[in-house]
Amino acid sequence: MSESKEIYFPNREFAKQARIKNMCEYDELMSWAKEDYEGFWAHWADEKIDWFEPYTKVLDESDAPFYRWFTGGKLNVSYQCIDRHLETRKNKAAIIFEGDRGDKQIVTYQQLHKNVNRFANLLKNRFGVKKGDRVVLYMPMIPEAAYAMLACARIGAIHSVVFGGFSAEALRDRIIDAEAKVVITADGAFRKDKPYMLKPVVDTALEEGCDCVEKVLVVQRNNEDVVWIEGRDYSYNELIEAESDVCDPEPMDSEDPLFLLYTSGSTGKPKGVQHSQAGYILWAQMTMEWVFDVKENDTYWCTADIGWITGHTYIVYGPLAMGATTVMFEGVPTYPDAGRAWKMVQEYGINQFYTAPTAIRVLHKMGENEPEKYDLSSLKVLGTVGEPIDPPAWKWYYEKIGGGRCAIVDTWWQTETGGHMISPLPGATPIKPACATFPLPGIMAEVIERDGTPAEPGEQGLLCITKPWPSMIRTIWGDPERFEKSYFGDAKKDGKPVYFSGDGAIVDEDGYITITGRVDDVINVSGHRMGTAEIEAAIKKHPHVAEVAVVGKPDEIKGESIFAYIVLKNADDTFGEEAELAKEINQVIAKEIGNIAKCDTIKVVPGLPKTRSGKVMRRILRAIAKGEEIKQDISTLEDPGIVAKIQTCVIG
Ligand code: PRX
Repeated sequence: MSESKEIYFPNREFAKQARIKNMCEYDELMSWAKEDYEGFWAHWADEKIDWFEPYTKVLDESDAPFYRWFTGGKLNVSYQCIDRHLETRKNKAAIIFEGDRGDKQIVTYQQLHKNVNRFANLLKNRFGVKKGDRVVLYMPMIPEAAYAMLACARIGAIHSVVFGGFSAEALRDRIIDAEAKVVITADGAFRKDKPYMLKPVVDTALEEGCDCVEKVLVVQRNNEDVVWIEGRDYSYNELIEAESDVCDPEPMDSEDPLFLLYTSGSTGKPKGVQHSQAGYILWAQMTMEWVFDVKENDTYWCTADIGWITGHTYIVYGPLAMGATTVMFEGVPTYPDAGRAWKMVQEYGINQFYTAPTAIRVLHKMGENEPEKYDLSSLKVLGTVGEPIDPPAWKWYYEKIGGGRCAIVDTWWQTETGGHMISPLPGATPIKPACATFPLPGIMAEVIERDGTPAEPGEQGLLCITKPWPSMIRTIWGDPERFEKSYFGDAKKDGKPVYFSGDGAIVDEDGYITITGRVDDVINVSGHRMGTAEIEAAIKKHPHVAEVAVVGKPDEIKGESIFAYIVLKNADDTFGEEAELAKEINQVIAKEIGNIAKCDTIKVVPGLPKTRSGKVMRRILRAIAKGEEIKQDISTLEDPGIVAKIQTCVIG
């Protein structure tokens, strides 16, 4: 339940010029979608997409849940994002880049067109990349990362961007799973004024089992020395100028895969979420227009990394599809000081700013009044994403950054949904702080029980999407069964399986939806999604570890922190200091997954609370981590006495 009864109405001046101006307009759109679902989507697909060939069917449900949208249609996403703007926006900034060290670069739509075409020709002609081939990107936040994504889209290759914070092992797993032919990387980049490296991580990843990879393309960014393997490694900077800046966009079927993006699930290895061409780009563009309400002269900045879905949809594809100016930032908003982001807002006259609650909490903590030093009057819409935002952070964002003038769009969505699903509309929705409010027009999001009955107002239920939508995940790469089981195996409505997000939510008496967080074994650290099973699998590689259970513990800044309970192989093991073991375990995690998955707390315990069938009762472990009293019945445990022993270990 949203804790506050306060309601913040849209700014009237803003509402007048917004695309969706009031709740009547919202209701009309929603009613239209409910009455004529296919007609609604066909209207927008006709209006927004530059089709090479028209589609013949709006929605094909014959192989549910493998839904297909706009079948028979042909388009090219890079054409949608670049070529079609050249007539009217040739010299408009498509990308404004600011480096960690303050270096700046403006890329116009015309320049973007040439750069993407050259990149596409390099991949196609020199490297022999063909339609349907997979290309893995392991890139810093530089314009070449966007060129690489769009170049793949142009020639019909399927990109899979791997976040630069993942380790060599994690990168290797993703390369192998996608059977990538080419890896695109950079020597490295800069963070907090210091160079860091990426190419050596690629080298390590490719040491084993990656025979599929034929070529590695390396963009020079920090100019540090890197090892070079002749015949495999190629320099982008040396090759690119020779390529022609003309490359015809490949006509793609609506349902051809556009990209894969690996994300964590509650079990097993990461899932390669597969997105389509037409449905994805349609919703990316529509949500940019509705949720951020970006206008022709606006400058829009999303602080995400392109390694996550937010970077895909709301730095690259969405803004460019609508012909907007998108800011890309290599650095961190806290360096050299807590004013960095606000200085950039002032410098570029940013109109829409989109970030994660963790960043807001960190910046808030670093200086309540720091934003006052900057002119933030250009801001019109503020966004948050990735995790629940708490009312104090929301208020600071609203008052100190938005000057009490800007709507905050708390956007709920996922890698699998491709774009926003539940969010306020800045010119229409009366906002309750820290509440995602209502589903966007066309999105049938409902909070239900497993059998489809609506959850009672104020009670937590499962957040489900009860009708397919254009930008939804199409499958898990190479594992259609897992796709079906992971998303369509938990809840039904009218006897038909519906998409379950893995999140819990509460609808209040006014119909407002508040997200309560994951109800599966996925934890959300600083807006990054981590599978407990993945972290546990990594920890088990430590030679002394017999058993492990990982849970999330609420954290004031990060939302959740990672808490691991370890059982050692030899109970009498005098491993030395617990701190020493913790350090070693975190080294293993850093090697297997990356620094982002390191545990904040590691406790050695004599055993785990298991049922007689051997299932670990994580709820008990979560309660102990929080320091809560154990209220649930522990008599069904194989050894009820273990709970007190674990508590003693944790309390110390
Ligand atoms: O738990 C929800 C949380 O982030 C999860 C999706 O993570 P990922 O696929 O990495 O995508 C993050 C960026 C879209 C969701 O299942 N989440 C996302 N947005 C919100 C949120 N939790 C609360 N409020 C949000 N606005």
